[in-house]
Amino acid sequence: MDKKTLTLGEFIIGNQDSFQYTSGELSRLLNGLRLAAKVVNHEVNKAGLVDIIGAAGDTNIQGENQQKLDVMANEKFIQTLSKREIVCGIASEEEDDFISINSFDKQHQNKYIVLIDPLDGSSNIDVNVSVGTIFSIYRRITPVGTPVTIEDFLQPGRNQVAAGYIVYGTSTMLVYTTGDGVNGFTLNPALGTFYLSHPDMEFPENGKIYSVNEGNYIHFPQGVKDYIKYCQEEEDDRPYTSRYIGSLVSDFHRNMIKGGIYLYPKSSKASEGKLRLLYECNPMAFLAEQANGKASDGFNPIMDIKPKELHQRVPFFCGSKKMVEKAEEFMALRA
Ligand code: AHG
Ligand code: MN
Ligand code: MN
Repeated sequence: MDKKTLTLGEFIIGNQDSFQYTSGELSRLLNGLRLAAKVVNHEVNKAGLVDIIGAAGDTNIQGENQQKLDVMANEKFIQTLSKREIVCGIASEEEDDFISINSFDKQHQNKYIVLIDPLDGSSNIDVNVSVGTIFSIYRRITPVGTPVTIEDFLQPGRNQVAAGYIVYGTSTMLVYTTGDGVNGFTLNPALGTFYLSHPDMEFPENGKIYSVNEGNYIHFPQGVKDYIKYCQEEEDDRPYTSRYIGSLVSDFHRNMIKGGIYLYPKSSKASEGKLRLLYECNPMAFLAEQANGKASDGFNPIMDIKPKELHQRVPFFCGSKKMVEKAEEFMALRA
């Protein structure tokens, strides 16, 4: 069959057997994410209309249309995931603590943990620039039949069984991995169906784009300053191009397609950087490694870090393998 006529639903079912736990539960979980993605996509697309719709009296009594989009996205994903008797716990960037889910008639029988950044790049919403959602999936480590604990959520990224993102861009795409490469699906909004548009996605081994908030330059470690200067030097294939959207999902997506590096280092203002290990860095690191790229904290692989707390932040260097290795060389010289 022509791969490009495959829908996401068909792809999930078709690849179910290659997954090491063949119960079909992960497929149902991914289908839940697919549904939530469509709902959030619909809300994000009409963000600019909210006031207009509200003025026309289309807002319900609770004012739901005017809810902040990151709160709305958080609720939609949690609602959709909690109802499927698969997920035993969810942690979200938008929640202080993790949520334990106990299906009514199945005492703590669910096996999967989901960590989520429901709306990534939310400061871009008001200016009509791409935003995203990031998700990360683990199997619980506490015994089935007992309530989940914090230990289930603080697993190293290496334990992920699936991860992905949705980018609400010029078109909406869902990109994910279950540890067997990375595939991207584009939404046909007229039909509400995702189609396999980007099979076997891979970072080019080297690239010419660097993505970093250079406004923070003065506060960066010397190694990062040196690497940025290296990117700007006129030599070989340099200077590189600078591109920074300010939503990790979109910057990562572009870099994976075109070849590039994304950096959010620590700084003298933010000692651990800004990005969150569990909701942002681990899922992106899993995707990067599956797509022949690399993700590190400047020294070591992101997925080897043993998390200490839910909202832990970590410096993040991610993208084309050779570029990340070069940045690490500079860090090793003058951290
Ligand atoms: P979020 O909207 O989920 O809080 O994440 C924003 C993150 C990330 O997506 C982006 O790359 C980065 O913050 C931008 O930060 P700066 O504005 O500090 O560059
Ligand atoms: Mn984010
Ligand atoms: Mn967010």
